[in-house]
Amino acid sequence: MSSGHSTYVPKSAFMKWFESRLPLGGLIHSSFIAYPVPRNLNYLWTFGGILSFMLVAQIVTGVVLVMHYTPHVTLAFNSVEHIMRDVNYGWLIRYLHSNGASMFFIAVYIHMFRGMYYGSYKAPREVLWILGVIIFLLMMATAFMGYVLPWGQMSFWGATVITNLFSALPFVGEPIVTWLWGGFSVDNPTLNRFFSLHYLLPFMIAGVVGLHVWALHVVGQNNPTGVEIKDVRKDTVPFTPYATIKDGFGIVCFMLLFAWFVFYQPNYMGHADNYIPANPLVTPAHIVPEWYFLPFYAILRSIPDKLGGVLAMFGAIAVLAFLPWLDTSKVRSAVYRPIYRQLFWVLVLVSIGLGYLGAMPPEGGYVIASRLLTAYYFIHFLVLLPLLGLIEKPKALPNSIADAVLTKHAGAGGAVVAQGAVSAPNTKG
Ligand code: HEM
Repeated sequence: MSSGHSTYVPKSAFMKWFESRLPLGGLIHSSFIAYPVPRNLNYLWTFGGILSFMLVAQIVTGVVLVMHYTPHVTLAFNSVEHIMRDVNYGWLIRYLHSNGASMFFIAVYIHMFRGMYYGSYKAPREVLWILGVIIFLLMMATAFMGYVLPWGQMSFWGATVITNLFSALPFVGEPIVTWLWGGFSVDNPTLNRFFSLHYLLPFMIAGVVGLHVWALHVVGQNNPTGVEIKDVRKDTVPFTPYATIKDGFGIVCFMLLFAWFVFYQPNYMGHADNYIPANPLVTPAHIVPEWYFLPFYAILRSIPDKLGGVLAMFGAIAVLAFLPWLDTSKVRSAVYRPIYRQLFWVLVLVSIGLGYLGAMPPEGGYVIASRLLTAYYFIHFLVLLPLLGLIEKPKALPNSIADAVLTKHAGAGGAVVAQGAVSAPNTKG
């Protein structure tokens, strides 16, 4: 989607000279100033900006941490304690980074569920969505390897449990695990390669985010009605000042929550056992991953067979990539899909339930509940969504984004005649 509200005109002779060689000013102008944004976006659309901010924050704090961290099994734990006690504001940098990881996942889960609620994965946004799923996988890999670096008990045993999962693969499993470890157990070579990859992956995430935002600017943003932009002048407002100010306000509010954790509850989202140095001879009573992995951990443990558990866990993420084709409805937004809206909230509750069960010991009723919720998770995507699109009768859609806004504010009750949102003309500014 090109700029809809104005075009870039270089002001000085130097900028004219520069622009004719590298049109950077024009790119920034069309992407972040004149870019037409649907006028009805709510605050859930600020989470992309919040995520971009968090990615930069994680990279900046991470680079500073590395200046004082030592990736060696005999020194890693102590170097983190040194950061906490001796380095000027080291405690702040570390708490920003460790809580930042959790905040990043809070934001990404809201961002993903927002996409599911408003059907933002549907045509023509499939590639945008799949790039998102790739970012999510990279984020999980980065967070997992980062958690190993302080070399506490949970670091060591978490790494042992998760890398061992690959041993479930027939024939190649054992050699893969040895290859991942760089030896015959989680040890110094493992810590070294995890450190190297933990530093590398955020830059790969930044690259994929670039593609994600590029894809977004090609197809344009979805909006709460799910109806495409028809008239750029009526349906949209320019990105600056409207979206920049709104995103800025969203980021400030999110930072308040972030600051509350950092200054008042800095260890709330972590695990106490990670303040005990890694000891290969003592297994903790319960090995629990970070909270953001818990739903997937519950799915892993719900299957009695190891290989089956691993496949179900990866399948739970892979199924998201197929969402654009599994959801057969012609209407995007849950606002106009009465049954889907209820199923969406059931899925949210099931995901939270799985998260709770992932933190519980794998025994008795917890196992049965995990199995039921895991089964429901897959039924939602593989059975309910494809069928629902065929049987659900959506509510009448507004004629345009402008209509939806004006009708709402006029207090009048009516959306106009139903119209296929997905097949609506795709006016690209
Ligand atoms: C580092 C992580 C991520 C960053 C920085 C990021 C950034 C953004 C930005 C800036 C936008 C536009 C603003 C907005 O709609 O909120 C956006 C939109 C979008 N993102 Fe992401 N994103 C990330 C992860 C993801 C993930 C994991 C998914 C899904 C699996 C995803 C799916 C989408 C979709 C579908 C849209 C279009 C939304 C719409 O127009 O309604 N993103 N993203």
